[in-house]
Amino acid sequence: MNILSVTAEIFPLVKTGGLADVAGSLPKALMAHGIHTRSLVPGYPSVMRALTGASPVAQYDRLFGERATLVAGQTGGLDLLVLDAPGFFDRQGGPYADDHGNDYPDNWKRFAAFSFVAAQIAEHGVADWRPDIIHVHDWHPALSLVYLKFSSRVEIPRVLTVHNLAFQGQFPAHRFTELGLPDEAYSVEGLEYYGDLGYLKGGLQAADAITVVSPTYAREIMSPTFGMGLEGVMNARHDDVIGIVNGIDMEVWNPCSDPYIENHFSTRAPLRRLANRQKLLDRFGLSDTAGPVFAAVNRLTWQKGMDLLAGVVDEIVKGGGKLIVHGQGDAAIEDAFMEAARRFPHSVSVEIGYDEPLAHQIHAGADAMLVPSRFEPCGLTQLYALRYGCVPIVARTGGLSETIIDANEAALHAQVATGIQFSPVDANELRLALRRAFRLFKRRRVWERLRRQGMRTDCSWHRSAAQYAELYGRVLTPDIRLAG
Ligand code: ADP
Ligand code: GLC
Repeated sequence: MNILSVTAEIFPLVKTGGLADVAGSLPKALMAHGIHTRSLVPGYPSVMRALTGASPVAQYDRLFGERATLVAGQTGGLDLLVLDAPGFFDRQGGPYADDHGNDYPDNWKRFAAFSFVAAQIAEHGVADWRPDIIHVHDWHPALSLVYLKFSSRVEIPRVLTVHNLAFQGQFPAHRFTELGLPDEAYSVEGLEYYGDLGYLKGGLQAADAITVVSPTYAREIMSPTFGMGLEGVMNARHDDVIGIVNGIDMEVWNPCSDPYIENHFSTRAPLRRLANRQKLLDRFGLSDTAGPVFAAVNRLTWQKGMDLLAGVVDEIVKGGGKLIVHGQGDAAIEDAFMEAARRFPHSVSVEIGYDEPLAHQIHAGADAMLVPSRFEPCGLTQLYALRYGCVPIVARTGGLSETIIDANEAALHAQVATGIQFSPVDANELRLALRRAFRLFKRRRVWERLRRQGMRTDCSWHRSAAQYAELYGRVLTPDIRLAG
């Protein structure tokens, strides 16, 4: 079976978050099911540099006004199709915004062009390769499903994965005439979204199957609290929605062989981890401590509850713990952490930025990983933390609620606990969760068991890739409905 996967990010070539990790690792996991994936990605500079053995397979003289070439190539086990359109993608800043964080004003056009090409490949194939299914991720390529639904006579099954409903690709309605779609595409069944254009909304309406990155999030987004305005559409499509929890790349995140960490460790050789902890404290200018080293590696945003964490730093310091924060995001949250580091220079250390090796080192050395998200479709940091023996302390929401088993007395007794959960998500409950962590950390053997149980958790793609494979099988047999 051939899948055309369409994504704006793919690890290790271009990444702003978990979408890249999933788009980069799922294709490898699907190979075990006899599924061959080709991933279409925009030709950002980092992507163009990494391509080896690349050859042009299609040419566009005027793709939304720009010259573009579709290039086929490979890198690191990924089979890629790259849309080399320098006018759209050869830019200095990030994939969606400039260096100051301002969205590119022509994002509506950049991702319409990207989507148009995806639809062309789905319809006609490239060279002698033809996909059986098109599978798009998030809003950026979602418009391709709208092109296929309204402008194509080819019936190819259309799958859309929602990684985060907060990012929707909403643009002014007057752009509609420039998209080259028939008038009926601007309708409730199509792109119309509160008087604007909704790329994700259009994709949700046009998809044959919708996957969401955890079953809990799939339930949550049926309500206005998590639906972000799309709960009506999600409810209407309810029977075609399925939640499949993300897996992780067990090779990229492997504490026995990780090239970014100095002391490799495992459940069988746990003591070597202590040397990583010491190195981490040194790296962040923190003195040695018998108390727990807490960490957060994440986008510093409201979604991630990082403002809540910044507000409870005193609880960590008071209890004799340390806090290491690495991430970037909202200026106010970055400032709050910097201020905390100034107030408590021996206990709190912050590095603003984005650094993949450092993320690995923090997971490999800290005692606990804080993920106090207000909503979390799946979340990957808590999975990496499990694998690296860093006990996750998480909000009970979305994928966090189903990937971590809370260390209540019953779960501890049964030896199945893997972390700490709290709910509702507010500063008070986060404080209480920290206090529980301090108490558990003092019970050395209990903490050690918690850590080991986490490391034994299967976070691989094993089960979830099988679910995607089954889903693909079902959409190829259209009379069988998903929820049936
Ligand atoms: P989201 O995609 O919502 O940001 P996830 O937990 O799914 O959240 O994925 C986040 C990914 O980004 C993880 O791979 C995490 O390690 C990585 N990450 C987040 N912030 C940083 C950072 N500052 N430096 C390096 N990696 C980071
Ligand atoms: C999104 C979500 C995150 C999820 C990731 C990968 O960025 O915010 O929860 O893990 O996508 O699916």
